Amino acid sequence: MAHFDACQKARNTQLYAICDLADDLRTRMATIWEPQIVHRTYDEMLADDQVEAIIVAVADQFHVPLATQAIESGKHVFVEKPMGLGVEECEELKRKVDASGLILQVGNNRRFDPGIAFAKQFLDEEMGGRIGFKAWYYDSADRYTMTNNLQPILRQSIAAVRADGNPKSNHRQYYILGHASHLVDTARLLGGEIVSLRARLLNRYGIWCWYVDVDFADGSLGHLDLIIAVHGDFEEGFMIHGEHGSVKGRVYLPWFHKSGVVECYSSKDRVFRRPLGADAYTYKTQLEGFADTVLHGKPQHGASVDDGVAAMRTMVSIARSAETGDLVHLSEVTGLV
Ligand SMILES: NC(=O)c1ccc[n+]([C@@H]2O[C@H](COP(=O)([O-])OP(=O)(O)OC[C@H]3O[C@@H](n4cnc5c(N)ncnc54)[C@H](O)[C@@H]3O)[C@@H](O)[C@H]2O)c1
Repeated sequence: MAHFDACQKARNTQLYAICDLADDLRTRMATIWEPQIVHRTYDEMLADDQVEAIIVAVADQFHVPLATQAIESGKHVFVEKPMGLGVEECEELKRKVDASGLILQVGNNRRFDPGIAFAKQFLDEEMGGRIGFKAWYYDSADRYTMTNNLQPILRQSIAAVRADGNPKSNHRQYYILGHASHLVDTARLLGGEIVSLRARLLNRYGIWCWYVDVDFADGSLGHLDLIIAVHGDFEEGFMIHGEHGSVKGRVYLPWFHKSGVVECYSSKDRVFRRPLGADAYTYKTQLEGFADTVLHGKPQHGASVDDGVAAMRTMVSIARSAETGDLVHLSEVTGLV
């Protein structure tokens, strides 16, 4: 539902059509969000010439099949994170996207947090080489108490199309797909390509804790923490040290629409810089970025299909390494998270 609202508020998008196989949800959503047209099936929507781009915001299991169908129908596609479930299907999607010349963007909305965007610019332009990178993502056991009042009321239906076998009950897999997809994307955006990693997993007190040692392609060292869920506040942040400065950031749950607090220190002028991110509705700004690329060919700031593949390789590596205790090279992993 975040996308319906975002699509209407974005400066350069139009919620032209919606579709859902669940009749009650489709009717309800059409009444609330007032698209110009309502399609019953996905095939019907893809056959509509007026549709320029598709937002795939369904269960993870359907991301690659529906994104592939959109690309094959000549539509640009925005697909929620994670891009898929495993390496092979993501690689296959990448081949199709590359051959089509169409745009695919993954819904890693943190990239559009003004604090993270500022950190990225500082890293690229001022900090020089990196030595160490740490990032963490701790979901909170009290998260929904904090955000429920900010979200639209969730409309449920027994007719909603669900993936077989209740995949969300497989916590080991679902938490990596659902949460590490953000952590890993931020790590790659700010830390660069990851080549290998070693992960440890401890599951105790109903809490899942992954600690991951990471080797970046530039030779710098990294560490990622993922804990689902802490008995404390939601925490998502990073600390980066380098040749001419350092960066420290804390990002808020997207529903607060509040920019991350990011401080960049440059040893050149010995000054900390902290931007005020006035518009941090990242569900909206990510669609604006996507539309700028689709409509005007502007550089893609959102996660591309290549980022989606690399994130998937990283997540699969975390899962494999946590099982075996081995160092895993991202280029060698296969299979599912
Ligand atoms: N970026 C973020 O911050 C963020 C936050 C929450 C969820 N997500 C992602 O959003 C995605 C969706 O999550 P959700 O919990 O809203 O899913 P959901 O399963 O509750 O809702 C998906 C809807 O899609 C419909 N659907 C499924 N297959 C369809 C098809 N082939 N044609 C037409 N309709 C179809 C279902 O009937 C259902 O109503 C997930 O991938 C999740 O990871 C991202």
